[in-house]
Amino acid sequence: MSTLAQPTTADTVHDFLPINGTDHIELYVGNAKQAAHYYKTTFGYQSQAYCGPETGVRDRVSYVLRQGKIRLVLTTPLNSDSLISEHIKKHGDGVKILALWVDDAYEAFAKTTARGGKPYMEPKTITDDFGEVKMAGIYTYGETVHLFVERKNYMGPFMPGYKKWTSEYNPTETGLEYIDHCVGNVGWNRMNETVKWYEDVMGFRNILSFDDKTINTEYSALMSKVMSNGNGFIKFPINEPAEGKKKSQIEEYLDFYEGEGVQHIALATQDIIKSVTQLKARGVEFLQTPTTYYDDLLDRVGPIDEDLQPLKDLGILVDKDDEGYLLQIFTKPIEDRPTLFFEIIQRKGAQSFGAGNFKALFECIEREQALRGNL
Ligand code: FE2
Repeated sequence: MSTLAQPTTADTVHDFLPINGTDHIELYVGNAKQAAHYYKTTFGYQSQAYCGPETGVRDRVSYVLRQGKIRLVLTTPLNSDSLISEHIKKHGDGVKILALWVDDAYEAFAKTTARGGKPYMEPKTITDDFGEVKMAGIYTYGETVHLFVERKNYMGPFMPGYKKWTSEYNPTETGLEYIDHCVGNVGWNRMNETVKWYEDVMGFRNILSFDDKTINTEYSALMSKVMSNGNGFIKFPINEPAEGKKKSQIEEYLDFYEGEGVQHIALATQDIIKSVTQLKARGVEFLQTPTTYYDDLLDRVGPIDEDLQPLKDLGILVDKDDEGYLLQIFTKPIEDRPTLFFEIIQRKGAQSFGAGNFKALFECIEREQALRGNL
């Protein structure tokens, strides 16, 4: 069963942790130079900022990439004696930081830690010629961190310590505009604890829940609960594995990430057919949708604006809720460990997450899982 609850005025008025949106997502990767090239070439991200030895940072390099409102930071350590190296050794490439854009980073830290948040970074103010950025951070699931970033008095390319990154290699964008949601995978029996953490520490609400009766196939199952902040700008679905005949895809993630972490990041476009056509042409690999999925699609979702054929050719999924419909597609994992992947999503009224596609999607994922010998 699933239920969708909308934010009420009271939620917004009493929101103790106002969030303007996602500030950036930082991945720790084995080779940021090559990863940056991949994200520029395939997804169409633009070079924005850089820090490293040339800017006075001795132990790491970071490349900041931008597309629409999406900012990705790719960080690689420059030696083995580093917490970043430890993170990569354990988890492989993956998301370390889900940074949230706030008006008062010091207050966000004070309020969330008073509510039980575990500190990652004490509040600090960093400055350069472009102004100042204030930030602080707390841990969420696994080793993942929420950084609170306050940048109202900053005009530079990213933040102090970074310089503008200009490149002669500038592939065009693919129409990706903003981060729609970021999904976390947590361990067995950790769902309720994680939901409670988001409620207690962050003031989020559980707006949507799916139990393992909704999300299951013949082989594997999972549970999912969507947490959202007061104004609804931030949505963090949380997945937990559930018992099935064989190994849940969430369990496979937990095994290979060696812990809890970010499973997928959903990027929004206004024209999914155009975006996915370009992404495919540039080498992004998507999960294949069985062609039978389209046989009764219009019976399931009703009339849609798009022609069926391009959706079928590209493997784009469609789902509806009370408010409209959405189109979505999922990439294969973007690293060799079957961990992080991306979703491309276009919303046409629907505010949900494609639960009606879970079964079709999971069967696709299971075929991949079986090929890896992990089912
Ligand atoms: Fe999603």
